Amino acid sequence: MIGLQWGDEGKGKIVDLLSENYDAICRFQGGPNAGHTIEIGDQKHVLHTIPSGIFRKHTINLVGNGLVIDPITFQREIEGLMQSGLDCRENLYVALKAHLILPTHRMLDAGSEAHKGKEKIGSTLRGIGPTYMDKTGRNGLRVGDILRQDFKKRYEKLREKHLGLASMYPNVDFDLAGEEEKWFKAIDQMRNMKLVNCEYFMSQMLSDRKKILAEGAQGTMLDITYGTYPFVTSSNTITAGVCDGLGVPPSAIGNVMGITKAYCTRVGSGPFPTELFDEDGEALMEAGREFGATTGRQRRCGWVDIPQLRYVCMINGVTELTVTKLDVLSAVKTFKAATSYQLQNGDWTSEFPFDAESDIAKIKYLEFNGWDDDLEHLKSYDQLPEQAGKFIRFLESELGIPVKLVSVGPERNQTIFR
Ligand code: GDP
Ligand code: IMO
Ligand code: MG
Repeated sequence: MIGLQWGDEGKGKIVDLLSENYDAICRFQGGPNAGHTIEIGDQKHVLHTIPSGIFRKHTINLVGNGLVIDPITFQREIEGLMQSGLDCRENLYVALKAHLILPTHRMLDAGSEAHKGKEKIGSTLRGIGPTYMDKTGRNGLRVGDILRQDFKKRYEKLREKHLGLASMYPNVDFDLAGEEEKWFKAIDQMRNMKLVNCEYFMSQMLSDRKKILAEGAQGTMLDITYGTYPFVTSSNTITAGVCDGLGVPPSAIGNVMGITKAYCTRVGSGPFPTELFDEDGEALMEAGREFGATTGRQRRCGWVDIPQLRYVCMINGVTELTVTKLDVLSAVKTFKAATSYQLQNGDWTSEFPFDAESDIAKIKYLEFNGWDDDLEHLKSYDQLPEQAGKFIRFLESELGIPVKLVSVGPERNQTIFR
């Protein structure tokens, strides 16, 4: 399940729903920058590191090799679930090769953003960038390292390095001693968890013909290579990231489910071609309650963008689509979809350009009439207003991929199977 926009497409909701039919749900990249919201009845949960299959007692939930884990937020999530009556320690597995986010990684994230000033990425300040930098820089600490005798010494060595780096950045307010105390307590708890050799674990499940769903975090437009660089996250959010992050061969991947909102949002800085700055944008933001699940920041809103979606479906090899938040379009009288971009040299293109900020001069849109009905209570596809059906068919024909699921509300059951 891959996010086809800039994140927050509703992955958590849909993965939770589908997990009923899977043996295992596996996160393969990202970390606590993710915020996956799940609403079951009147209970609402936001998961950051734990996969969204955790509410199914018999489903294996694996935090894969490709992740960066903050032990503090991870334990807090587990405790939060405990408080709501769910003990997830039995079906939660953690990969030995996942990297650890140190308190000083978060400090560096804040320092780097302060240093960038107006050009900041708008990171979630969870330490994601610095931790992946240490991974590729070959300095990082991994989950498996917590079992070593000299773990503390390794920690201190990396911490020293970070303090040296931090001196290059403006001072940020950070209670290092306090955070370290919490961190080591959380590490102690992590030692008692089910730590696994992810690639062998996956291989065994594949041999046993288990049904496995890999749950993406972020979205393709935030991918480190294919996103709107440098305003991206630091991991491979695309289908190829599944192979890297879980240690599975490409041939193990069957269906690629792509998920998109019926409009588009982005949180943080960076290009967003179809962004709205008018009442329609306001209306989408309010009706869609577009506030970040991790940081609470207001999300920027805009129209759905066909060249952008075509680009990401191409990269990911998407075989089926899920369209979420169709109900939110009830808040506007008419709505639009971008169909092509005019470049600075006057040429029209349906490709996503190298630099979306400066290369796009103009955007061509197709306008759709809205509908008056609320969609939240609809149960079947044929109950959708005619205009909504027309929009779904438009997406299918533009992208050449069938829409299998339509989501009309945040609750688990507010979903229409096609
Ligand atoms: P994720 O990061 O992709 O899992 O998405 P988030 O949880 O960050 O953001 C999606 C938000 O939209 C959450 O608040 C969901 O509860 C909510 N949501 C998901 N699907 C729908 C839908 O079809 N309609 C409405 N109105 N809200 C939805
Ligand atoms: P989910 O899984 C939306 C954005 C941040 C920032 C950029 C880099 O809930 O869809 P980072 O902390 O990763 O260094 O931030 O990426 N970002 C997200 N936006 N949804 C997410 O995850 C995001 N994770 C990171 O806002 O612009
Ligand atoms: Mg989210």
